[in-house]
Amino acid sequence: MTGISQPLITIERHILNQQEQYPGATGRLTNLLYDLALAAKLIARETTRAGIVSILGATSGENVHGEVQQKLDVYADQVIFRMNDHTGRVCVMASEEHDELLQIPDRFKPGYYVLIYDPLDGSSNIDVNASIGTIFAIHRKISPGPRGTESDVLQPGHKLVAAAYVVYGSSTMLVYSTGRGVHGFTLDPSVGEFFLSHPDITIPSPGRYYSANQGHQRDWLPGIQHYVRWLQALDEPDREPLAQRYIGSLVSDFHRNLLRGGVFFYPGDTRRPQGKLRLTYEAQPLAFIAEQAGGYASDGAGNILDIQPHSLHQRVPFFVGNRELVEKAERFLQQHEAQYLAEYVRTR
Ligand code: AHG
Ligand code: MN
Ligand code: MN
Repeated sequence: MTGISQPLITIERHILNQQEQYPGATGRLTNLLYDLALAAKLIARETTRAGIVSILGATSGENVHGEVQQKLDVYADQVIFRMNDHTGRVCVMASEEHDELLQIPDRFKPGYYVLIYDPLDGSSNIDVNASIGTIFAIHRKISPGPRGTESDVLQPGHKLVAAAYVVYGSSTMLVYSTGRGVHGFTLDPSVGEFFLSHPDITIPSPGRYYSANQGHQRDWLPGIQHYVRWLQALDEPDREPLAQRYIGSLVSDFHRNLLRGGVFFYPGDTRRPQGKLRLTYEAQPLAFIAEQAGGYASDGAGNILDIQPHSLHQRVPFFVGNRELVEKAERFLQQHEAQYLAEYVRTR
């Protein structure tokens, strides 16, 4: 054979291979992950069409622009729910787009897993054709009885069974971990298959990039200001500064830093002590993946994965990336923001 030097491994094959390493595995998780990959393909198809639909809408004089953007959010949310409401694999779902838990309809049998998702992350980027994403987190059911409850969703991140994200960029990629490393797949849209393109991802060191919305710098605590000065090596002319990259789409910013090395942070500040990002929909699954890739995620006070969530839409300050870069942020906060940290930890 010429031309193809690597085995072609589909996501289905890969998930099955991983399952075969667990004696006694039932295949339920395998099937659930495969359903998520299928939902991702459907969202990817709509994502690539969103731009052209919006242009056609604009020329016909309709205000389709805003509608299209909203539709894609709603579409992603519904596809994921409908893909998983009847399979008997999921007992309850929680979506960033809904205030309340999403129960399995009475006519279907509830299953063993808990599915938490951010259907369309970075949605403000849709109408400018920049990358967006989807984030998934999967827990085991811990409550008694057939239906899932809030306690099933509000589990610490170290209890996660699996986490995944999809980035809809110049190509669509799905990256997942079941606690055995991090593996990335690229969608070949012509055949509708995800192929293994990035086996065993580990975050390279030293990190190259720092990613934060520096427009909020005015509101940042002095400890964060010191941290950024350190990242920029402002006080150490002999040390190379990190370069800054920020898309404003968490999945895309995270993905780039995972492949290239770096740190992403959305800290608590004087206006929003808890930051902006959501613990269960965004921080926990990405922290799980980061740790599996040799990185680390913190809320500034400690490991994100150790936090016991108390509410569905809880926000959390988020630092994620190379361990040494995240730990450096923790040290700057300990040094300069003892009072903020004490108050924050009391109320988180
Ligand atoms: P979502 O679109 O799911 O609401 O998430 C938006 C988030 C996240 O993707 C990104 O990291 C962050 O908002 C950007 O916020 P700023 O615009 O404040 O930088
Ligand atoms: Mn989001
Ligand atoms: Mn979202």
